[in-house]
Amino acid sequence: MSRLVVVSNRVPVPEKKGAASAGGLAVALEAALGKRGGVWMGWSGKVNDEGEPGPLAIEQRGNITYALTDLTSKDVDEYYFGFANRMLWPICHYRLDLAEYGRTEMAGYFRVNRFFAHRLAPLIKPDDIVWVHDYHLIPLAAELRQMGIKNKIGFFLHIPWPPADVLFAMPVHEEIMRGLAAYDLVGFQTDHDLENFAGCLRREEMGDMIGEGRFVAGERTFRGGAYPIAIETAAFAEFARKAGTHSMVLKARHSIEDRSLIIGVDRLDYSKGITQRIDAFEHFVTNNPAHRRQVTYLQITPKSRSEVPEYEAMQRMVAEQAGRVNGALGTVDWVPIRYINRSVSRPVLAGLYRLAKVGLVTPLRDGMNLVAKEYVAAQDPEDPGVLVLSRFAGAARELNGALLVNPYDIVGTSNALARGLNMPLDERRDRWLRMMDHLLEHDVSRWCDDFLGDLAA
Ligand code: ADP
Ligand code: F6P
Repeated sequence: MSRLVVVSNRVPVPEKKGAASAGGLAVALEAALGKRGGVWMGWSGKVNDEGEPGPLAIEQRGNITYALTDLTSKDVDEYYFGFANRMLWPICHYRLDLAEYGRTEMAGYFRVNRFFAHRLAPLIKPDDIVWVHDYHLIPLAAELRQMGIKNKIGFFLHIPWPPADVLFAMPVHEEIMRGLAAYDLVGFQTDHDLENFAGCLRREEMGDMIGEGRFVAGERTFRGGAYPIAIETAAFAEFARKAGTHSMVLKARHSIEDRSLIIGVDRLDYSKGITQRIDAFEHFVTNNPAHRRQVTYLQITPKSRSEVPEYEAMQRMVAEQAGRVNGALGTVDWVPIRYINRSVSRPVLAGLYRLAKVGLVTPLRDGMNLVAKEYVAAQDPEDPGVLVLSRFAGAARELNGALLVNPYDIVGTSNALARGLNMPLDERRDRWLRMMDHLLEHDVSRWCDDFLGDLAA
């Protein structure tokens, strides 16, 4: 078996591993790579403005070799906070209104990709398979090719790929698409993203699909496919089964008393639909007097990308909104919304999901959404909770036992909450079983094997 070299911007840096990593990429890749072993190269998360970059920091943990590079503050500002998170992220989440195009940031993005290529190339051995992840590093393969790297190089996009009319608002969209054409295999989360990508190539007359999963763009032919990312289903279910005795889970259970728990778990990101979700909860409590004082909504939301102005504004908005709803609806012995800005360990997370009668997962747009899958995996088979899921999450295409909602429709989401909380046990079991069977069969190892099998073929 060839050695696997994974590259991503975000790496769950070993010394920081006390706290759980929030973010689907880190969680899924850690699970996938932990089994297979290999090299994982990426940003150390550290800023270093002291002259020339030193050697890569190498750390061996189990069968993963981490190879980490620092970046300068200029790099981080332009490439990560700038182009990746103020241009590509909003565009790929259909938020033209939030996209900020700056030439300096765009140049920084391409420069840092070249820098990554120069740092990575000396690590690559002739038989290695290279697997690049996510929107931060789209131009990496083109840079590696220019340096003469001939290895198989695959790319997986963890976030959605938008339709042409949205993508083309980004001034450098052609370079970005050409960047993808330099890979041997490009993986998307869903068929829908794959179709959008094919549509973008066609509309710009840059290329086309030439048969099942094969593309041509300029001189290059390459493959593309949908590979829905997944979780370590069996292991996560086992965490949840054992979590009942964990002190933090016990505390949570005692403190909610006999109320029904509704849970939301997301990075604090505008794509996650948290404000609409709080509106829906407020509507639900206001319009269902029988449930008033009988429910607790727990929203666990670590802050994310706080240097980006749209995220900072969001942090203020959600905190104010949760406070306002608690002020308006709460009583001396009932706090309707518990709002927490921190990460919790995976066993505790699994235990909290299992306590919740409803998992409320309502992104306005999401590549996949692993929280939806984790919520299902954590349920008690004898008395499972109900997943209320946005139709705009990639996961909605697989989780056919969920109550699907349009997250912009506050009344519709509120009605789904009521339906979930009142659902009879037989229906809950039936819906849960369908989803759990799917998740057991399509777990993260299979995702990894499917992608790498196709890349190697
Ligand atoms: P994204 O990649 O956009 O953050 P996903 O739902 O796909 O969204 O993945 C989020 C991952 O981060 C999940 O594995 C989830 O368990 C984890 N996560 C999110 N919030 C927390 C938190 N507060 N504590 C621990 N893990 C979290
Ligand atoms: O899963 C999507 C994603 O954008 C990953 O690429 C990223 O690691 C994660 O969300 C969390 O974001 P960040 O790395 O910016 O903290």
